[in-house]
Amino acid sequence: MKRENWGSRFGFIMAAAGSAIGLGNIWKFPYLAGSEGGGAFLLVYLFFMVTIGFCIMAAEIAMGRRTQQSPVGAFLSLGGKGWVIFGYLATIAAFIILSYYSVVGGWTIAYFVKTLTGGLATTDAVTHGDNFGALISSPIEPIIYHGVFMALTILIVLKGVNSGIEKASEVLMPLLFALMIIMVIRAVTLPGAMEGIKFFLQPNWDQFDMGTVSAAMGQAFFSLSLGMGAIITYGSYVSKSDRIPGSAGYIVTLDTSIAFLAGMMILPAVFAFNVDPGAGPGLTFITLPAIFEQMWAGTFFQAAFFLMLAIAALTSAISLLNNPVSYLEDNHGMNRQTATIIVGVGIFLLGVPSSLAMGVWGDVSFFGKDFFSLCEFLTDKLLLPIGGIAVSVMAGWVAYPLIVEELTNKGTAQFAYLPVWSFVCRIFAPLAILYILVSGLLV
Ligand code: PHE
Repeated sequence: MKRENWGSRFGFIMAAAGSAIGLGNIWKFPYLAGSEGGGAFLLVYLFFMVTIGFCIMAAEIAMGRRTQQSPVGAFLSLGGKGWVIFGYLATIAAFIILSYYSVVGGWTIAYFVKTLTGGLATTDAVTHGDNFGALISSPIEPIIYHGVFMALTILIVLKGVNSGIEKASEVLMPLLFALMIIMVIRAVTLPGAMEGIKFFLQPNWDQFDMGTVSAAMGQAFFSLSLGMGAIITYGSYVSKSDRIPGSAGYIVTLDTSIAFLAGMMILPAVFAFNVDPGAGPGLTFITLPAIFEQMWAGTFFQAAFFLMLAIAALTSAISLLNNPVSYLEDNHGMNRQTATIIVGVGIFLLGVPSSLAMGVWGDVSFFGKDFFSLCEFLTDKLLLPIGGIAVSVMAGWVAYPLIVEELTNKGTAQFAYLPVWSFVCRIFAPLAILYILVSGLLV
């Protein structure tokens, strides 16, 4: 059977950008930049995005298109039996990431609902902090929202991804962009915003250490949805005539721009409202509502923003769920419906302890971490870098001629950066990622 294709190149780029652009850019990036030294983090992050990020993005799309398979099949057919393990690790990574990602996705839905029902109306950042703390530490409410978020993800994946995600992404991604630009304009014109802009753009090398490098690289991978197979699977639906390097370039540029805009939106507001930039995961949820209240038609914009955030998270979640589901379809002949429900429910259950870790299970520690942080650590610091090394060695060495054929459409399309791409995949990426993997485990 011929594999389904994206309807258009634009559709693929929007869907892949939809996978890439999510909570990682809008929620996580600003708080990481806030706690890892602002401008110094930004520079290292940009460096990884354009080198390793771009090259592995192109490599993953090529692996998918070449093999017409999800990661397990792709690694098997390109590298043989010994490589299959990396396909499995990628699939497991998707499973774990979605379990905690969906908990945060649930918070965005909760904020959308609370905005509409007037539950967040106060101008005081401290009260917003308390509200946020109360929501995430409650034993029941966030789990319900996590369930709602997973249910929506399951519904879309059940229906079949391509036309659903593609159509939705084509409309939602440009809208998200427009809305963020409005928000940035408001944030940078707040009194006191300048200090936040400086903090974000001016490198502060005092706070710079190996931890910064490792966080920046983990974030680059996470933000581009790399190292865990979502892009390999999406690549398997790419038309043979599309030019992969160009598409990869667009995806990386869009993803980077959204992270940059998120920083320009949140950090100025953080300084304007005297919130600690190192506050961590609560940053977006605490500072943004405070800005919205100062804004004309703030409630409207706030509702729109959290809806967008939920949707951005959803387009990423779909690509995560699609990964184990397409594995069960491709490799075990399971039908899509059964696979989606089994995997979806399993992921929901795994997310429950992550949600509880914000409250009643906050003190329960696994290897010195609460459950949420453990899942984050396992994926960001371990599985994604391992996946990244596997992809770069596969594309740069093991299946090099086949992948180059894909990147150049059998030699008919120009790829001026081929020498750079080859160097990055062969030498730079494996060594840099290995170094960071090891040092990430030590810090
Ligand atoms: N890239 C997504 C984000 O930035 C998260 C994600 C990771 C999605 C891995 C798919 C795969 O939010």
